[in-house]
Amino acid sequence: MITLGIETSCDETSVAVVEDSTSIRSNIIFSQMVHAGFGGVVPELASREHLKAIMTVYREALKAADIIPDSIDLIAATYGPGLVGALLVGLNFGKGLAYGYNKPFIAVNHLEGHIASNILTHRNLPERHLTLIISGGHTSLVLVESFGNYRALGQTKDDAVGEAFDKVAKLLGLGYPGGHEIDRLGKTGDRKYFRFPRGIIKEDSYNFSYSGLKTAVALHVQSLNEKELEEHIADIAASFQEAALEVLVKKAARAASEYGIKAVTLSGGVASNSRLKEMMQDELARVGADFYYPPPKLCTDNAAMIAAAGYLRYLSDGPSGLNTNAVPYLKLT
Ligand code: KG4
Ligand code: ZN
Repeated sequence: MITLGIETSCDETSVAVVEDSTSIRSNIIFSQMVHAGFGGVVPELASREHLKAIMTVYREALKAADIIPDSIDLIAATYGPGLVGALLVGLNFGKGLAYGYNKPFIAVNHLEGHIASNILTHRNLPERHLTLIISGGHTSLVLVESFGNYRALGQTKDDAVGEAFDKVAKLLGLGYPGGHEIDRLGKTGDRKYFRFPRGIIKEDSYNFSYSGLKTAVALHVQSLNEKELEEHIADIAASFQEAALEVLVKKAARAASEYGIKAVTLSGGVASNSRLKEMMQDELARVGADFYYPPPKLCTDNAAMIAAAGYLRYLSDGPSGLNTNAVPYLKLT
């Protein structure tokens, strides 16, 4: 079955063609650059950029997959969570295509899309697994009993982990979004340079907190003069990363032990972090769980994961109505 996926929940305009939930025929991602100067995503600009880009991205996706619209069997589009104006562009584009070409339509939860990014990547991934969804907007630890059957174990009580990376990058003058730059700089820095606070909340909780860490880094940066900051920028990046990532790794490993889970996955933009992958590998080996993550192109927001999730949802639930609306605060469970 051939699914056309559409993703416009934040600042990536993406259209993909995927066969079943396993084979990507095309996955075109247009990352909006207009937000860089603002240090964060400007919702109104995001909607306008999606409107400008969506037709071109759609045509490119069909061309790269070497397919005509008539050969598509299902149209899947993200309906939440995300920025409402941005969601409406892709959702209505998808519904219009479904109506015009007389194809079934399926509305997809963006978070379920991130879960599907690992199903799409790893054919041997056990159905029951634990996943960390970590991006600029989300920090969630979810027990996947099977596709569509989830138990939310914990989430952030304030900032998302990617947001913390972006805010610290801004403090260090590294531009936006800055996660990748902190990752790169952190490789050469001293992880033990400064012990920033770990947002543990309570020992037995699976929730996360990142606002205290962000403030601690800001206070530390303020305490340095220009020369000291320049000298220690990589050390600060490395020490911040250690604090931000350690809680993710420890909580995921503890949940794997507590629930007897043998497979743990990462998804979302922060899943491409190289230090996080090292730490997860070590910690999960200790508790006897296997570790999976998608390639970078499927970590970031993309339509291939939306198509894969849409296909699996369609098999279990059938099509969505063409009156489906965007739901900005849509939950996974
Ligand atoms: O999933 P994504 O593309 O968009 C959403 O936020 O939904 O994630 C983007 C986030 C940004 O906060 C970015 O700084 C972060 O992922 N990110 C990283 C890395 N690459 C992207 N954070 C840490 N290390 C990276 N290598
Ligand atoms: Zn996302």
